[in-house]
Amino acid sequence: MAEGFASADDRAAFIAGLPKAELHLHIEGSLEPELMFTLAQRNKVAIPFATIEEVRAAYAFSNLQDFLDIYYQGMGVLHREQDFYDLTAAYLARAHADAVRHVEIFFDPQGHTARGVAFGTVIAGITRALDAAAARYGMTSKLIMCFLRHLSEAEAEATLDEALPYLDRIDGVGLDSSEVGHPPAKFARVFARARGLGLKLVAHAGEEGPPAYVHEALDLLKVDRIDHGNRSLEDPALARRLAAEGMTLTVCPLSNLKLCVVGDMADHPLRTMLNAGLNATVNSDDPSYFGGYVNGNYLAVADALDLSKDELLTLARNSFSGSFLSDAEKARHLAAIDAYA
Ligand code: ADE
Ligand code: ZN
Repeated sequence: MAEGFASADDRAAFIAGLPKAELHLHIEGSLEPELMFTLAQRNKVAIPFATIEEVRAAYAFSNLQDFLDIYYQGMGVLHREQDFYDLTAAYLARAHADAVRHVEIFFDPQGHTARGVAFGTVIAGITRALDAAAARYGMTSKLIMCFLRHLSEAEAEATLDEALPYLDRIDGVGLDSSEVGHPPAKFARVFARARGLGLKLVAHAGEEGPPAYVHEALDLLKVDRIDHGNRSLEDPALARRLAAEGMTLTVCPLSNLKLCVVGDMADHPLRTMLNAGLNATVNSDDPSYFGGYVNGNYLAVADALDLSKDELLTLARNSFSGSFLSDAEKARHLAAIDAYA
C-alpha cells in the first residue's frame, strides 16, 4: 500500500474529504441521461434513445470525435434558462458532495446559439446556479467561455462580440472540440483580443494533438493554463519549460481512458508529470459521459498508480494554486489542505 495509507478504503476516505478545486469541467458534459430524458420531454425534443440503458450503451468511444458527436447531440435538449440552471445546479451538488470548494466551469456557447438559444439565456441559467451554490455551499466559481475550434476564427470573434454585455460574469476564454487539424494558431487574434479585455486564457492542447500544439498555446495564445497537456511529455524540452514556468495542466484521467488517450489507467502519465515537476491537477472533463465526477477521477488514478498521501495532497494543492482565485483566497484553501493533512 502506498505511503500514508493503511488500505485502499483508507485512501478512498481521504480523497472523499480532501478539499479540492475542479478546473476542467464542461457543464454540458455533466448532463446525466436522466436529466436528458426530463429535458427532452419538457422541451419536446426527440432523442434517439428509448431508455437510460440505451444512452449509457452509446457512451463507448474510440476517440475524441466519437465522443464529441454524441456530446453535441446530447446538449440539444437544453433550451430554456431553467434547463441551464437545472444542469448546473445538479453538477454543483455533485461537486459539493466531493468536497469541491471552488469550480472553474467551461461552457460552449456556440453549441447553443447555433440552435437558436440566446447567449443571455445560457448565461442566466448557469450564473443563477453558481450564485445559489455560493449562498448554499460557500462554493466559489469562475466561468470560462470556450470557442469551438472546428469552427472558424471569425465565428469565435462573433461569439466574443456576443459575450461583451456579460463580461461581468465571464472570467476567461478557452478552446475545445476537435483538436487535430485545428491548431491554436488558428485562434491567435481572437485570444489576443480576449487578453486585451482582461480575460484569463486557457486552451485544450496535447490531448490528441502533438506537442507543437502545446507550444502554440503557450507562444501564440499566451495561455494561463493548459487543458490536458498529456502529449507534452513526448517533448522533454517542452516538459522542462512547463515545469520551469509553473504552468498548470488540467488532467482528466477517466476522460483519457474513455477517449483512448491512454490504453489502461495503469499507464496514465499523472505520476510521471508530478515527478517531472509539472503542476498537474485532477479533473472530470465530462463526468456524465466518462463515468466519474472529480472524486471518481482521483480514486481511479490513485488506485491504478497507487498514489501516496503526499501525491494526493500535491494534486489538491495544485488545484488551488492553478486556479484563477486571488492570492489571499488561494492561501486560505492551501491552509485548509494543511489542516486536513
Ligand atoms: N469538449 C468537451 N470535452 C472535451 C474534450 N475532452 N476535449 C475537447 N473538447 C471537449
Ligand atoms: Zn475538456
